[in-house]
Amino acid sequence: MAYSEKVIEHYENPRNVGAMDKNDSGVGTGMVGAPACGDVMRLQIKVNGQGIIEDAKFKTYGCGSAIASSSLVTEWVKGKTLEEAMTIKNSQIAEELELPPVKIHCSVLAEDAIKAAVEDYRKKQGGVSVAAPAEMASVQAAH
Ligand code: FES
Repeated sequence: MAYSEKVIEHYENPRNVGAMDKNDSGVGTGMVGAPACGDVMRLQIKVNGQGIIEDAKFKTYGCGSAIASSSLVTEWVKGKTLEEAMTIKNSQIAEELELPPVKIHCSVLAEDAIKAAVEDYRKKQGGVSVAAPAEMASVQAAH
C-alpha cells in the first residue's frame, strides 16, 4: 500500500501528539476504536471560556493513515468553535490526505474522535445551552 506524501509527512512529523488532563473541566476527551481493524484514537481538546478550541492533542494506536488523520484534525480544530469542529467531515480529511478507499475508515475515526471530544466537553459543562434537549436526552440515556 502506497501512502500519499501528505500522509507520510504527517506520519513522520505528527502534530500535537500528547495528552491533557481528562479531569480538567475545560478538556474534552474522545476515544474511539475502528471495528474494521481494531485501531484506537484518542483526541482531546482544550476549550476556552468563549467556546473556542485553544489546543488539541492526540494519541493514536493505529495505522499511518489514522495517525495522519488525527494529526491533521488537531491542526484543523485549533481556533475553531465547537460548532465548527462538529462540521468536520471525514471526506474532507480523506481528500486532504488523498486516502485510498480502503483507508477511508481511518479518516472516519478522526471525525468520530473529534465529535466524541466535543460531546465529552459539553457533557462536562452540564449540557448548558449547547445541546438541544433531544440530544441531551440521548446523551444521558447512553450512560
Ligand atoms: Fe484502521 Fe487505519 S487501518 S484506522
